[in-house]
Amino acid sequence: MVDGTPTLPSEARTFAPDPAFVEQAVAGAGLAESASRDRMAFWAAQADELVTWARRPTETLDWSNPPFARWFADGTLNVAYNCLDRHVEAGHGDRVALLWEGEPGDSRAITYAELTADVKRAANLLSSLGVGPGDRVVIYLPQIPEAVVAMLAVVRLGAVHSVVFGGFSAESLRARIDDAEATLVITADGGWRKGSVSPLKPAVDAALAVGGESSVENVLVVRRGENPVDWVDGRDLWWHEALEGVDDEHVAEAFEAEHPLFILYTSGTTGKPKGILHTSGGYLTQVAYTHRNVFDLHPETDVYWCTADVGWITGHSYVVYGPLANGATQVLYEGTPDSPAPGRWWDLIEKYGVTIFYTAPTAIRGFMKAGREIPQARDLSSLRLLGSVGEPINPEAWLWYREVIGSGRTPIVDTWWQTETGAMMISPLPGVTTTKPGAAQSPLPGVLVDVVDDHGSPVADGESGLLVVSEPWPSMLRGIWGDPDRYVETYWSRFGDRYFAGDGARRDDDGDIWLLGRVDDVMNVSGHRLSTAEIESALVSNPLVAESAVVGAADETTGQAVVAFVVLRNKKRKSVTPEEAVVRLRAHVADRIGAIARPRTIVLVDELPKTRSGKIMRRLLRDVAEGREVGDTTTLADSAVMSVITAEMR
Ligand code: PRX
Repeated sequence: MVDGTPTLPSEARTFAPDPAFVEQAVAGAGLAESASRDRMAFWAAQADELVTWARRPTETLDWSNPPFARWFADGTLNVAYNCLDRHVEAGHGDRVALLWEGEPGDSRAITYAELTADVKRAANLLSSLGVGPGDRVVIYLPQIPEAVVAMLAVVRLGAVHSVVFGGFSAESLRARIDDAEATLVITADGGWRKGSVSPLKPAVDAALAVGGESSVENVLVVRRGENPVDWVDGRDLWWHEALEGVDDEHVAEAFEAEHPLFILYTSGTTGKPKGILHTSGGYLTQVAYTHRNVFDLHPETDVYWCTADVGWITGHSYVVYGPLANGATQVLYEGTPDSPAPGRWWDLIEKYGVTIFYTAPTAIRGFMKAGREIPQARDLSSLRLLGSVGEPINPEAWLWYREVIGSGRTPIVDTWWQTETGAMMISPLPGVTTTKPGAAQSPLPGVLVDVVDDHGSPVADGESGLLVVSEPWPSMLRGIWGDPDRYVETYWSRFGDRYFAGDGARRDDDGDIWLLGRVDDVMNVSGHRLSTAEIESALVSNPLVAESAVVGAADETTGQAVVAFVVLRNKKRKSVTPEEAVVRLRAHVADRIGAIARPRTIVLVDELPKTRSGKIMRRLLRDVAEGREVGDTTTLADSAVMSVITAEMR
């Protein structure tokens, strides 16, 4: 039991849609019917209804060269125009687009007309700095309106953004700048986080100072933290100064539907992050479609809030492109949920009258721990729909979310998707689906998935298998930046022309889908994807370390936690105490990758469990890290190793 909510068998309770909700729901049963009647016609209709095209597409899907899909390929559009100008032209210029709140309590309400003018001005500035179609711009900003403005200004010009989450280190930033060969970085002096200013510009300076000359010509710096910063004359420009006197008229040029829109780096099974590439028309169609139907969006009356940072895919699709394409009014918040005090998020819901709220299970579990009194001291009655994303939501957290945050009446949509899928793929439809705590349930109309065994044959209901997407979808990734072979190898080599997601899944007796977590060496910590290989390579880059193995261990709050098993170099063992070594190594990982990758636990061991061929048996280490009885050790070269490690854990 957590916080008074009884633990029930997961399938024991279901929640049928409330008739009053059904009455006004955007989605109806007709959506699934029309998608199953003719999937291509269905997507063509969505593209036609939700997107304003400069040239309307006559083609839907070109899958003649799998796995390289082309959607709506003969259509042209400007994505920023779709998110901005067209709402102003339709008479909604006075509607608030962003209700922004800074962590210290400063706030700004920005209308669609204002946001459009800001983006036009920024596009003119970027163009005067030489940014044009196809150029890459790295964005490394806090959660401030300028982040949205910068992203939209880049895509308005047909350039490609690569947003790097502000929590990543200088080294991670540099790797992303180099991989994309970016010519411009847009950053800020710093942003507010947990009650103080967390500097960003110094990380950009550090990133550009090491490793030889970079592709970057200019660094544009937004003033936010007011913290002191170093300056490189000729390279660095203040955003506010550079924008002075710049024209706020700019005509958006149309680009082909398959024109690259953005790159977003995500962790894979190797040490090197993958630059996931998304393109324009198909992506916009599916983010707008899912945002509208899954969140039951009524743009005239709803106040929507997705708590994700724009540095992640959820921020791209459901803070920037989906909501703005749909003309929504949304809250954008700079800081953490507990600054200056626990309950800040609930204060914001009360203050802005938020109606639709989208967050991650880790946050919900954190609130459960803190106690229901905190949200219950606020008026949350404006909420009418809750969403979850990023990791499996356990039924207890689901029930608490509905009961305590949703006053026992709001539908909950548990949305499964990935950086690669671009938009939601599996989710209940509010007003249609009878929801089940803990299950993402059904592929959305227009999406086809299956649960298969190692050979690609569907498994029986009730059995666990691997999740595949059986047919291409509009917002699917178009590749890995600069590495088409890795794209084919990672997602398409296992099951032919079906997409391998890397997740385990199971269908229950009703045919509902339950997600079971990753089946590869990718961890999911607080809904953030981390690679075991990347953290291992950060650890072995420290002179103290001879060898390391990293596993994701189940964690009550964060879903998984990083646990590292480390063998110190013989020569170094005497130079540090074990406690010092652990402190230094945790800091080292944060420094190399970013604080999100810092191991929760580092266990110093004499040896790692390996097979006779030298492969590290992570499965056994996970058993130890999760406090389980260690499984079959017969394939180990030295079976005594595990008992030593188990003893060391205690
Ligand atoms: O394991 C799945 C998990 O998050 C992974 C994708 O991570 P990322 O690309 O960072 O995107 C996160 C936000 C979309 C998936 O492979 N995941 C995401 N949503 C869910 C989920 N697992 C279970 N249930 C979900 N609703």
